Amino acid sequence: MKKIAVLTSGGDAPGMNAAIRAVVRTAIDAGMEVVGVENGYDGVLNKEFIPMGLRSVSDIIQRGGTILRSARCKAMMTDEGRDLAAKNLKEEGIEGLIVIGGDGSFRGAEELCKRGILCIGVPGTIDNDLAYTDYTIGFDTACNTVLDSINRIRDTMGSHNRVSVVEVMGRHCGDIALYTGIGGGAEVIMIPEIPMTLDELLVHMKDYEKSGKRSGIIVLAEGAGKADEVEKFLNAHTGLEVRASVLGHIQRGGSPTNFDRYLGTTLGAKAVDLLKNGIGNRIVGIKDGQIVDMDIIEGISVPRTVNTKLYEIAKVVAK
Ligand code: F6P
Repeated sequence: MKKIAVLTSGGDAPGMNAAIRAVVRTAIDAGMEVVGVENGYDGVLNKEFIPMGLRSVSDIIQRGGTILRSARCKAMMTDEGRDLAAKNLKEEGIEGLIVIGGDGSFRGAEELCKRGILCIGVPGTIDNDLAYTDYTIGFDTACNTVLDSINRIRDTMGSHNRVSVVEVMGRHCGDIALYTGIGGGAEVIMIPEIPMTLDELLVHMKDYEKSGKRSGIIVLAEGAGKADEVEKFLNAHTGLEVRASVLGHIQRGGSPTNFDRYLGTTLGAKAVDLLKNGIGNRIVGIKDGQIVDMDIIEGISVPRTVNTKLYEIAKVVAK
């Protein structure tokens, strides 16, 4: 393989730059030419290709976001879009493509494999919603960013004897809420995988009122409800003073933690190794501390299971 490309797709995640850096430098070390594609799959369709050299990835390991920029590309959901993408890559002499993104991005990569481009997927999303890998690039940083906010919110809640509902990202996957609920000592964690009605929440909050605690934190994943609705409901049905905070896109930015830089670097290097050996149609990840790879469809079909043990521990230690 002489020439490969790399792109970032879907929601950006801290650590994507570390992955791009590793891809570029590992590929050059192996004697390959590397092209960066700007704006995700949109950039493949519009031929936004830029040559990447050793120095074009200098000074980026510590930066959040992605230097290649990212997009959610609707055209890659269609056969016309996928055909054009494969044609554009072939016209540039690009034989292999590394896609850093989530499951939607991996489906696009799988379609390009069918059209003769060897693709490797690298998991980059703050959601941690890919079950074939223990962690995705960006999740650890997002959790630490949320934790920093929870710490600050806890200070002011404590001063005023209030309860805060902190809404974090995660439409279908509650991992950010679960892990930061544990780390932030939340009184209640609400996640989409284990639905909790407002009436069930009320039971918890009545217990909480009796427990002698004077302030508290409810961490709510966006897929499990809306912070302002929970705030209104609890203010109306309890004697508590409740405030809502929606953390939003603050969770996606910021300098990556060392773990996300490590993950970006090792997974990026592994992706290049596979292409170097003529292997495509794979996704890379980390399982029990080991860097692994598997077939794309097999990997994205692994069913997600919520860590119920962690959820139970969180309930006990919140008492
Ligand atoms: O997939 C990453 C993610 O940050 C989700 O947690 C969130 O629901 C979504 O992206 C937000 O998307 P957008 O940036 O398009 O508003």
